[in-house]
Amino acid sequence: MPDSTPLRLEVSHLSRAFGGRRVVDDVTLTVAAGQVTCLLGPSGCGKSTTLRIIAGVERTDQGEVRIDGRLVEGPGVHVPPEARSVGLMFQDFALFPHLTVAENVGFGLRAERARKVQRIGELLEKVDLSGFGQKHPHELSGGEQQRVALARALAPRPRVMLMDEPFSGLDNRLRDGIRDRTLELLKEEGAAVLLVTHEPDEAMRMADEIALMRQGRIVQKGAPYNVYNAPVDKAAAAFFSDINVIRGISRGALTETPFGAFLTPGHADGAEVEIVIRPQHLRIDFDRGGRGPNPTPEDGTPARGTVLRSRYLGRESLVDFSMDFEGAKLTASVPGVFLPKPGTVLWLMIRRDRCFVFGSHGRS
Ligand SMILES: Nc1ncnc2c1ncn2[C@@H]1O[C@H](COP(=O)(O)OP(=O)(O)OP(=O)(O)O)[C@@H](O)[C@H]1O
Ligand SMILES: [Mg+2]
Repeated sequence: MPDSTPLRLEVSHLSRAFGGRRVVDDVTLTVAAGQVTCLLGPSGCGKSTTLRIIAGVERTDQGEVRIDGRLVEGPGVHVPPEARSVGLMFQDFALFPHLTVAENVGFGLRAERARKVQRIGELLEKVDLSGFGQKHPHELSGGEQQRVALARALAPRPRVMLMDEPFSGLDNRLRDGIRDRTLELLKEEGAAVLLVTHEPDEAMRMADEIALMRQGRIVQKGAPYNVYNAPVDKAAAAFFSDINVIRGISRGALTETPFGAFLTPGHADGAEVEIVIRPQHLRIDFDRGGRGPNPTPEDGTPARGTVLRSRYLGRESLVDFSMDFEGAKLTASVPGVFLPKPGTVLWLMIRRDRCFVFGSHGRS
């Protein structure tokens, strides 16, 4: 990120406990203007609590929140939510039922009438709802209501937009389109966006940066590409897709496996290591009368497996194998249709450059 991009939101060392249990634990993150950071993590890990502290509807025990450099939350400081210049959008984005769409959008706008009307019109156009201004919320579909809520949150031009699972109430068919349109609009408006989600796909799709959260802590931060392709530990890898795990013992920075030797530098002699690979990075080859393919430097030694089950998922097929070694089970994914019958013997190879090696206590 260039140095010239101003940091709109700076969160440092936030901690919050409920009944003696820390649910937010030393959370630090920043979001620049025009950027989207996704706070991603499993249910109950503290995402909403973090967002609520930033919004000012929850207090922090420790740490600070700054918006445009101004301290809004910290020791002895608590600027009320309405004075923080944050836009809020939650899962239950309840519109005011008795107000029209235009009145809903204009609700938090403090401007003279003509400016207000202009801004409302501009936003309704941006969310493709021109002409809906005089309708009431009950006359709108779920997706349309969601867009009104987005327009309402953006109307006062907040410096920071805080969004908590804003798409989870929408059906799948609508969701992708609305996500993309929302992202475009947020970028146009230039707000710094912190979006909470427990769905890795959503984070991958929306985020400039992902902050992966677990048990109150941020365990990894980075661009979606990096978080997906260089996970900090096994659990981080597993959060984004199914994974296969092959165990071995590191000796002299090498670990022998049925797929050949893997380089495992940094692991002590005799240490247990776990080699983790996503299903799409297993290569399948044919049996060739029991000989299988020749070993290669990239793919190592092939190992034999028997198909347990094949499933077609639309974009890809998933094939589960029972391997000849140690009763191991591995899953491979193949683009398109590939449905070998149970009992078929095939060979698997592992792409060396796509493996993650971790100590068996998690960290690499
Ligand atoms: N006001 C509160 N009092 C007591 N415990 C709370 C309070 N608010 C949240 N918690 C607890 O803190 C933990 C984190 O909650 P939080 O809502 O931040 O999780 P989350 O990551 O948003 O989860 P989800 O994805 O399910 O929305 C949970 O165990 C929750 O029960
Ligand atoms: Mg939540």
